Amino acid sequence: MALRKLVAGNWKMHGLSSDLNEIRAIAAAARDFSEIDVVLCVPAILIERAVRTVPGFPIGGQDVHHAEKGAHTGCTSALMLHDAGATLTIVGHSERRDAQRESNEEIKAKAEAALAAGLDVILCVGESLEARGRGDAIATVAGQLGGSLPSVIAGETKLAVAYEPIWAIGTGKIPTIVEIGEMHAAIRDTLRDRYGERGELIRILYGGSVKPSNAAEIFAIADVDGALVGGASLKTVDFMPIVAAASARAAS
Ligand code: PGA
Repeated sequence: MALRKLVAGNWKMHGLSSDLNEIRAIAAAARDFSEIDVVLCVPAILIERAVRTVPGFPIGGQDVHHAEKGAHTGCTSALMLHDAGATLTIVGHSERRDAQRESNEEIKAKAEAALAAGLDVILCVGESLEARGRGDAIATVAGQLGGSLPSVIAGETKLAVAYEPIWAIGTGKIPTIVEIGEMHAAIRDTLRDRYGERGELIRILYGGSVKPSNAAEIFAIADVDGALVGGASLKTVDFMPIVAAASARAAS
């Protein structure tokens, strides 16, 4: 089944007041592509200003703490992101799984906290180069999903899963079309096993070196319901061709 495509930009640790103009330009250009969903996930401290700059355009965060409030210096709760005007958050990005040593259990708690606060969630999974080399890519991702998918979903469109092979992030390398297709099919099976028919409706995004030059072939793969885009989401000129490629696929 063809699901409504979602193209999410992950700005990571990029974004100052001076970049609000770029957000304005992206939001304005995205209006031409109303048959797909476009969102920008910006640093937490920029969310409120971004929301004020582009009212009505979805702005997301990149992480949340699993607790509602408390003694967690430097952390941001899901309720805080929601209060700032965010509509969505990423959880479990490999840069956090790695640098912050986040476990599947913690990521599951974050996803559940975000859904409970009324945010949509993009839950990231993906294998290392070593795991792929050993032939363990699908098993690795199945293990991550097993441990980090929320127990209950508020609605199938509230959750998306992003498959992001760690070795493809920011490197310019991507898996083959066949490898992406196999992984997305395996993720779909896991979602169906976990949530039944509702698992058919959860969007599965591909992430890792998505560029204007490869977006069309990636969006043509079965069960690729959108993309999580890092570096190429920072500039309108790079991001919009990717959005346009998703839209062209949606129309075909
Ligand atoms: P990239 O990052 O597009 O720069 O490879 C993707 C991501 O980490 O979400």
